[in-house]
Amino acid sequence: MADITTDVLIIGTGPAGSATAALLASYGLEPMVINRYRWLANTPRAHITNQRTMEVLRDLGRDVEDEAYMFATEQDLMGQNVFCTAVAGEEIGRMQSWGNHPLSRAEHLLSSPGRMNDLPQTYMEPLLFKTACSRGAQSRMSTEYVSHVQDADGVTTTCLDRLTGKQFTVRSKFLVGADGGNSKVAEHAGLSFEGKMGVAGSMNILFECDLSRYVAHRPSVLYWVLQPGADVGGIGMGLVRMVRPWNEWLIVWGYDINQPAPAVDDAFATKVVRDLVGVQDLQPKIKSVSTWTVNNMYATTMSNGRVFCMGDATHRHPPSNGLGSNTSIQDAFNLAWKLAAVIRGQAGIGLLDSYQAERAPVAKQIVTRANKSIEEFGPIFKALGLLDSVDPVKMQENMDARCNDTADAEKQREAIRQAIAAKVYEFDAHGVEMNQRYKSGAVVTDGQPEPPFEKDAELHYQPTTWPGARLPHVWLFGPEGEKVSSLDLTGHGVFTVLTGIGGDGWVAAAKSLSKEFGLPITVHKIGPRQTWQDFSGDWARAREIRDSGALLVRPDHHVAWRAQAAVKDPEGELRRVLKTILDR
Ligand code: FDA
Repeated sequence: MADITTDVLIIGTGPAGSATAALLASYGLEPMVINRYRWLANTPRAHITNQRTMEVLRDLGRDVEDEAYMFATEQDLMGQNVFCTAVAGEEIGRMQSWGNHPLSRAEHLLSSPGRMNDLPQTYMEPLLFKTACSRGAQSRMSTEYVSHVQDADGVTTTCLDRLTGKQFTVRSKFLVGADGGNSKVAEHAGLSFEGKMGVAGSMNILFECDLSRYVAHRPSVLYWVLQPGADVGGIGMGLVRMVRPWNEWLIVWGYDINQPAPAVDDAFATKVVRDLVGVQDLQPKIKSVSTWTVNNMYATTMSNGRVFCMGDATHRHPPSNGLGSNTSIQDAFNLAWKLAAVIRGQAGIGLLDSYQAERAPVAKQIVTRANKSIEEFGPIFKALGLLDSVDPVKMQENMDARCNDTADAEKQREAIRQAIAAKVYEFDAHGVEMNQRYKSGAVVTDGQPEPPFEKDAELHYQPTTWPGARLPHVWLFGPEGEKVSSLDLTGHGVFTVLTGIGGDGWVAAAKSLSKEFGLPITVHKIGPRQTWQDFSGDWARAREIRDSGALLVRPDHHVAWRAQAAVKDPEGELRRVLKTILDR
């Protein structure tokens, strides 16, 4: 007999674990979540929060979404990645980032009801964790996962209470390993991985200092400092990152991975801060120093039986593109509704196979992209002449050469401009963030071929209702004239059928099948004199079906199936599709 029983035991209260707990609790379950430490993230690691993540927070409720925006630094202030010789030194170039270029901003506005923002992990985790606990999740801090064994009906996990030193067991139907980059759960579950850990060493120096006079006129999240002769490693140069504008900062600085992680004292940290800011009498307040490694590894299997892993446990990569926490929260959004459906008996256990089928390709995609983004600093170093010598004096001369009135210098200036502009794949890769299209047993084809990407799929999001893609966002209007996103009509843990005039057959079918399957299905009709109006015609342009057709949308906003128009036997069609998706 186990000491505690719960439906789902979640290991870790990071973005992945807290989001899973928050979603399951919001769906009415009572998961249990543990963390080996006494509290949540103590450094502001993740910060770039993309639109898809904001959609997950919006799905959790407007209170959650509003609180995130309240603590976040807004998109306008995130904007201009600056490349310089020191924060107070000479600027080499800058690029408008994170949806701040006017053309990119338009794409952002058209794509989502959410806004990109900068929300440090020290704010995101408490928000998700509070949401989980206040909605019914059980939490236990200072509690360490030790091991697990699973059988046909569930998982028995051994935990260590770090306050008493005593072990106890938890019996759950499912175990979620959201225990970060050194995941024991993934190891014990025997998940397979590709790639390499520890490809470079990095250190974080968190400090307080008002730098407004150097930065407020060119607001940015990231100031990249290129100093010839500086001790580089990790990401290849010094990075000064805004944590709170403009008085809290994080420096990311490299160390030699072939040596043990250095013990950094306040004096060394202060020197690094002064060098990178470029003000030798600066008086920073050093708040903390920590080290971490750059990894290049992703899971090719994300689950084993009743054990599911997510977040950094399955994708381990550098912070480039700001994808880690975002993807972790999005993993949770994919898995939580499936677990809830299986636990409630609304779906067969086969539904859970779709988690790995859908999220393992995303893990590979983001690990590959984040590591490629590091390599793409190379052309900037090359254009500045930093790769031609190791002598700091010569390196400085090479950098200075760009100011000469010569044909070579003109070429160098062009090379620098192009190299900086190419960093759009790291700092404004909207497609990487939004273009996920799932292919699995939890998606049923309508027989249409996948629409090819018309623009660069890493840079540009392309909306489609092709089954497997995320439902496109457009603004619709309700009975009181209220503005709602098409995404707002879906989600919240339930399936949705969207149809229009002539779609009454789908409405009746959804109601009847909802009873038959014991599965809540929300139905919305969109059109003139219907509950939801499409005054702008944006919905008609986005939906890729006729008025009398139907979209079946999963609780995670992804289109499960679509019908072009009314059919003879809508109930039979929808039953066939639901049976397939739900493994019934
Ligand atoms: P995470 O590591 O956050 O949490 C793991 C949890 O498991 C913790 O609660 C831990 O205590 C717990 N745990 C571990 N072992 C346990 C055990 N045996 N028993 C019990 N509990 C255990 N991402 C992003 O999206 N945008 C960004 O801008 C950035 N920027 C960024 C900058 C820097 C400097 C770094 C280092 C990282 C980022 N990231 C990022 C990445 C982001 O921080 C990372 O991807 C997420 O924290 C991963 O979340 P997880 O919940 O998966 O793991």
